[in-house]
Amino acid sequence: MATRGAFIAIEGLDRSGKTTQVATLQARLDSEGIPVKLFKFPDRGTAVGKMIDSYLRSQSELDDHAIHLLFSANRWELAAAIEQLLAQGTTVVCDRYAFSGVAFSAAKGLPLEWCRAPDVALPAPDLTLFLDITPEKARERGGYGEERYEKEEMQRQVRDVFRVIASEFDDATWVTIDAGRKQDAVAADIWDCVHPLANGIVGPVQRLWV
Ligand code: TMP
Repeated sequence: MATRGAFIAIEGLDRSGKTTQVATLQARLDSEGIPVKLFKFPDRGTAVGKMIDSYLRSQSELDDHAIHLLFSANRWELAAAIEQLLAQGTTVVCDRYAFSGVAFSAAKGLPLEWCRAPDVALPAPDLTLFLDITPEKARERGGYGEERYEKEEMQRQVRDVFRVIASEFDDATWVTIDAGRKQDAVAADIWDCVHPLANGIVGPVQRLWV
């Protein structure tokens, strides 16, 4: 039976080592000869992404609802490209996806259900890996950066919302990984989860949030 590429989302808190782990996963898939394409959200290169970038750097102000919708629009801009790649048999890895959208906006106080609405019917990942790190561990790693949400209290709230989101998924679809450990240990866990999907998936791409 024909297979399609797997859709993998990597979510994580700031300082969880997400960027490094995404690069390591991409390299591993490459070395195994598995076609892979990486997306990163927000994609700051599109017209919408430029507005998001300016907001995150505190160079512009936007209503919380408006920025939420822009983050979602940024995903919709690339949804067709993602689906096309999956159909061609390419594994798609996303560095952040709609779960970040919900977690960060809900952490600011917007209702969870309202936050989900604009992402309804986007392609759903087959597997989401959540790289979890305690605020204490993040502090040990040198603390947070300069951007708008990189503050300890915000990160705590985001972490709480991610826990709520995680509780809605089964263990095969959402895996929480302790990212406070050494890079190699985290990478090994990620590969254990991704490897079984890497040779392709039978069946259509699912939709958020169904
Ligand atoms: P980055 O540091 O991974 O580039 O992400 C930029 C910030 O944007 C990060 O603090 C998480 C936040 N974010 C949202 O608030 N909503 C979203 O939909 C996404 C994808 C990211």
